Amino acid sequence: MDWGIQNRLNRLIQKDGKALFLPIDHGYFQGPTSKLEKPGETIKPLVPYADAIMMTRGVLRNCIDPAIEKPIILRVSGGNSVVGDDLSNEEQLTSITEILRLNASAVSMSIYVGGKYEHQTLKSFSRLVDQCEDYGIPTMAVTAVGRELEKRTARYLGLCSRIAAELGARVVKTYYCEDFAKVVDGCPVPVVIAGGPKVDTALEVFEFVYDGMQCGAIGVNLGRNIWQHQYPVAMIRAIRGVIHENLTPKEAQGLFDQVKAGKA
Ligand code: R5P
Repeated sequence: MDWGIQNRLNRLIQKDGKALFLPIDHGYFQGPTSKLEKPGETIKPLVPYADAIMMTRGVLRNCIDPAIEKPIILRVSGGNSVVGDDLSNEEQLTSITEILRLNASAVSMSIYVGGKYEHQTLKSFSRLVDQCEDYGIPTMAVTAVGRELEKRTARYLGLCSRIAAELGARVVKTYYCEDFAKVVDGCPVPVVIAGGPKVDTALEVFEFVYDGMQCGAIGVNLGRNIWQHQYPVAMIRAIRGVIHENLTPKEAQGLFDQVKAGKA
């Protein structure tokens, strides 16, 4: 691997081989998502505990201090919206010049395998890989399901993740599901887990992150289950514990309770 791309990957994936990415890119198709109305404010207390932050160029330019030391994963696709016809109608919208200008450490883009615009998103992702590889920038493919959350099975996500890797993704972001090991085993590049909509309890999050890590994921790209929680700092610190300190879900819950109570 060339020095540049290896160096950028090393900034994202820590020395222990694991990573906690914090995405705040949801507005690119959802608008001012709950708790993300002012993304710069939302993430201020969370940044110290994240290994990288993922966002669009608009939020980066307008809401994030350029003195930030954490690496940026730039969301470079879009063109769809929650009120539009089909969420899978997405493609690369941010140029390679802009990616370089913004000093992105990596880029991310959704692919919609099996969707109406499958071919468009796969082709667009492959072109992005070509452009980014020229400059040593890693690409993270997002295996998107749009509104069809029931698609999140090991068979489907395994298919999407493998296709993403075959097209040149350096990292794949996919949803956690039952039999998650099957997804990771069939994917020759590192896999991070996306959270999806907020679940009922903090413990559920610790459990799926823990199981995902046991199954071979290198970490998470987790948004709503952190910053939509009533205690976002306690959440991110406990999840960080699962990822980087091998905490069990029970131990993570203990850390969460302590942080929440102001005792840690
Ligand atoms: C979709 O909105 C983005 O790709 C998010 O970055 C991704 O879904 C992860 O965020 P969450 O954990 O909120 O699903």
